[in-house]
Amino acid sequence: MQSYRLWGAGPAVSTSCVLQKFPGVMFTWSMLMMCVSVFTIQPEEHMVAAGICQFHGRHPKTRFKVEGEPVAMRCPQVPYLDSASTHVNVTWRRNDSTTMVPGEEETRVWIQDGGLWIVPASRGDSGTYICTVRNASYCDEMSVELRVFEKTEASLPLISYPQIITLSTSGLLVCPDLSEFIGNKTDVKIQWYKDSVPLDQDNEKFLSVRGTRLLVNNVSLEDAGYYRCAMTFAHRGRQYNITRNIKLRVKKREEETIPVIISPHQTISASLGSRLTIPCKVFLGAGIHATTLLWWTINSTHVEDAYLGTRVTEGRRQEYSENNENYIEVPLIFDPVIREDLHTDFKCVVRNTMSFQMLRTTVKEAATFSWKITLAPLSLIFLVFGGIWMHRRCKRRTGKAYGLMELKTSHQILNPIQVK
Ligand SMILES: *[C@@H]1O[C@H](CO)[C@@H](O)[C@H](O)[C@H]1NC(C)=O
Ligand SMILES: *[C@@H]1O[C@H](CO)[C@@H](O)[C@H](O)[C@H]1NC(C)=O
Ligand SMILES: *[C@@H]1O[C@H](CO)[C@@H](O)[C@H](O)[C@H]1NC(C)=O
Ligand SMILES: *[C@@H]1O[C@H](CO)[C@@H](O)[C@H](O)[C@H]1NC(C)=O
Ligand SMILES: *[C@@H]1O[C@H](CO)[C@@H](O)[C@H](O)[C@H]1NC(C)=O
Ligand SMILES: *[C@@H]1O[C@H](CO)[C@@H](O)[C@H](O)[C@H]1NC(C)=O
Repeated sequence: MQSYRLWGAGPAVSTSCVLQKFPGVMFTWSMLMMCVSVFTIQPEEHMVAAGICQFHGRHPKTRFKVEGEPVAMRCPQVPYLDSASTHVNVTWRRNDSTTMVPGEEETRVWIQDGGLWIVPASRGDSGTYICTVRNASYCDEMSVELRVFEKTEASLPLISYPQIITLSTSGLLVCPDLSEFIGNKTDVKIQWYKDSVPLDQDNEKFLSVRGTRLLVNNVSLEDAGYYRCAMTFAHRGRQYNITRNIKLRVKKREEETIPVIISPHQTISASLGSRLTIPCKVFLGAGIHATTLLWWTINSTHVEDAYLGTRVTEGRRQEYSENNENYIEVPLIFDPVIREDLHTDFKCVVRNTMSFQMLRTTVKEAATFSWKITLAPLSLIFLVFGGIWMHRRCKRRTGKAYGLMELKTSHQILNPIQVK
């Protein structure tokens, strides 16, 4: 509290006074800092020690593996953590249990460089695994899903990695997900199969290159289908096969087609003063978007040159596919429509290297159908009938009231007679 008094004294305090009180100030200050550090640092360390860990959710890639084969799953967070330089502790557990994997006496499962190894995997190993990365000040978790399948034809679509090569070119297939087993080795021997038939090395069509790749020459549609690549892996004196299945899709080379303008109509109805959007929609079929130009003209000049303003503008170009057919769309936007537009010529123009086409459209004033006009006679009729009805009702009411008054009056008249 000394410190407050000191600073509160303001300019009146002499230098010697400040120096006198300095040790006291320092003491208070250091006490304050200690308090602050106790409240800021302690809880965090406590949290980590108590095992409160930030969970980053499930890794999007499910690992599909074949039973009897070695499995090595990398902890998804570790590549970003650089486990070699920061001394992190990586642990694994199944999500339905709190005990770590591997359990005691387990020789089939181990952790190596933060990754979980299962050699060989069985179908019972399928499940969700949580990898925890922890050091003195930091902890985070992520889960990884592993599914181990029986080696059957039926599981092929599930365990296959999709890959694509373009028709009539040469392309590479890659035997995927082997880095844990290969490491820095360059002399890996990979055997390739197409529909379970081994592909020979002296084959003109297929050439095994650079360890894990297969070159496919002059790709034809028949080359599509299932491929398998396999390598062997030795552990504790046993040889295991590691196989990967690939589903190759052969994609047609993208080409230009003759575009077809499918909208707008020849005339568009619009009411003056309102906003109007006329889309120009072009059908390309299997053709590519990139090389097709699409624009609007107004009285045969470009939109920007015709209006020099923002009343009529070209909207954003949209490229999309419906049922594997490609389309492009560019709208012309009026905000608002004015009378001059009714005498103006609008054209949608499309051009690529195959063709040049245009479609003319005009804006027509819409027949002004308005509720006000339709309702006016109707409301007049209602008013008239309503008036008549009200009139009649009022008349009847006053009639009744009149009769009552008559009765009362007669009563009053009678009374004096009775009294008398
Ligand atoms: C990792 O955790 C284990 C078990 O809790 C512990 O024995 C080991 O010392 C930790 N290693 C490091 C580097 O923190
Ligand atoms: C473990 O993960 C699976 C699949 O994500 C889920 O269905 C199951 O409920 C989880 N179990 C626990 C105990 O969290
Ligand atoms: C713990 O890991 C985090 C994240 O990698 C790092 O920033 C931090 O320096 C590490 N702390 C220690 C004490 O190693
Ligand atoms: C590529 O294959 C097609 C038929 O599949 C064949 O007509 C063509 O000659 C081949 N081209 C080369 C360069 O081998
Ligand atoms: C590995 O694959 C080869 C060739 O397909 C086969 O002969 C061998 O029996 C397989 N080994 C194991 C352990 O499945
Ligand atoms: C387009 O031309 C017509 C007739 O030549 C003219 O009436 C109209 O104002 C022109 N529109 C614009 C925007 O220049």
